[in-house]
Amino acid sequence: MAEARGQFSSKLGFILAAAGSAVGLGNIVAFPVMASKNGGAAFLIIYLLFIAFICYPVMLAEISMGRHTNRNPVGAFSELSAGHPGWRLAGILAILTPFMIAVFYTVITVWLVVYVKEIAFGRLDLLSNESTFGEVVARPSLFGYLLGLLGLIFTILLGGVKGGIERLARVLMPTLAVMLVALTLFVLTLDNAVAGIRYYLVPDFSRMDLSVINGALSQAFFSLSLGMGILITYGSYFSQQDSISQSTRMVAVADTSIAIFAGLLILPAIFAFDPNTNTEDLSTSSVGLIFSFLPQIFLSMQSAVGYFGASVVAISFFSLVFFAALTSLVSIIEIPISCWIDELKLTRRKAVLLQAVLLSIFSIPAIMSLGISDYFTNFTSYGGVTKSFFDLVSDVFYETILPLVGFTVCIFCVSVLFRRE
Ligand code: TRP
Repeated sequence: MAEARGQFSSKLGFILAAAGSAVGLGNIVAFPVMASKNGGAAFLIIYLLFIAFICYPVMLAEISMGRHTNRNPVGAFSELSAGHPGWRLAGILAILTPFMIAVFYTVITVWLVVYVKEIAFGRLDLLSNESTFGEVVARPSLFGYLLGLLGLIFTILLGGVKGGIERLARVLMPTLAVMLVALTLFVLTLDNAVAGIRYYLVPDFSRMDLSVINGALSQAFFSLSLGMGILITYGSYFSQQDSISQSTRMVAVADTSIAIFAGLLILPAIFAFDPNTNTEDLSTSSVGLIFSFLPQIFLSMQSAVGYFGASVVAISFFSLVFFAALTSLVSIIEIPISCWIDELKLTRRKAVLLQAVLLSIFSIPAIMSLGISDYFTNFTSYGGVTKSFFDLVSDVFYETILPLVGFTVCIFCVSVLFRRE
C-alpha cells in the first residue's frame, strides 16, 4: 500500500517549519551587510515594501499551488498547466536549483560546526586571525564533519514531515529567537553600540539607486525561500481545512523580524569594535563577514567580559547561525525528496537514501574546492578568474538560476493560474 503523504500537524507546525526554512544565512548574515551598505533604514523601507506588495502575494501563490495539487514543484507545475512541457521544465528547474544550492549551503554549514568546536576548545583567538579561515576550509578533517552533518540531516528527513522537519523547527525556532534577543541585548550594552543603531535606523536616501532596489528584491526573495519550490512543497503538506493567508503572514513577519533583529545585533557589534567603521569597507561577501570579521569582533569583547565571556558570546552566535542554517538546509533538501516520492513513486525511506547518495556525490568535490584538492580548487576559469567547483555551483545556481526560477513562478501565476476560470 502507498505511504500516506506527509502533512503538518497544525497551522503552528507549518508556520514554524516554513519560518525555519526562511530564516537562514540570508537573514542573519546577508541582510545586515546589505542594509548597512545600502543606506540603512532607506534600504529597510524598500525591503519592507517589497515583502508586503510582491513577496507576500508570491508566497500565497506558491503555497496554494502546492496545496491545491498536493504535489512537489514538478508535479504542481505540470498539473496546473495541463502537462505543458515548457512549464514542466520550469518545475524541473525548481528541483534542480535547490538540489545544487544544497551543495554549497551544506559546505558552509560544515564550517559553522568546525567554528563552534574550535571556540569550545578555547581557540577564539586563533579564529580571529585573518589567515585562519583559509586554513580551516582546507583541512582534510572536514570530511568527518561533512559525514556527521549529512548523517544528522538525513536522519531528520527520514523522520518525515511531522516527526522530522516539524519537530526540528519546534525545538530550534524558539531557541533561535531567544538566543538572538539575548545576544542583541548584550551587544546593545557595549560602548558605542548606539552609533551602530543610528547608522542602521537613520535613512540615507542618497545611497538609493537601481542596484540597491534590485538587491533588496533579490534579498527578499531569497530570504523568504521564494521561487525555489520550497513553499510549493510545504504548501502540499498544509491541511486542506486551514486558511493559508494568516499563516503566510506570520511566516513573512517572523522572517522579516529576525532579519531586522540580526541587523540590531551585527551593526552595533561592528561599531562597538571600531566606532569609526566605514561601512563602505565592510566585506561584500557574507562568508568573509561571518568567518573572518566576526571572530575578531567577539575577541575584542574580552576587554569587557574576559576571554571566557567573549568565547561564550561567540559560541552562542555561531550556534545560532548553525541552527538557522540547519532548518533551512533541511527544507532545501526536502524539495528533491518530495519529487522522488511523488514522481518516482518511492517510499520516503528510499527517496531519502537516494538523495543522500546524490548530495554526497556533489558535496564531496565542493568541500574539496577550497584547498584540499588542486583539481577542484582550480576547477575552471571564466570572466578572467580561476573558479573552484564551489564557486561554479554558487555562480550558476545561486546568482543566476535562482532569481530566474523566482521570476518564472511569477509569470506562471499571471499567465496560467489567474487565467483559469
Ligand atoms: N531562506 C533561507 C535563507 O535566508 C535560504 C533558503 C532555504 C532558501 N530554503 C530556500 C532560499 C528555498 C530559496 C529557496 O538563508
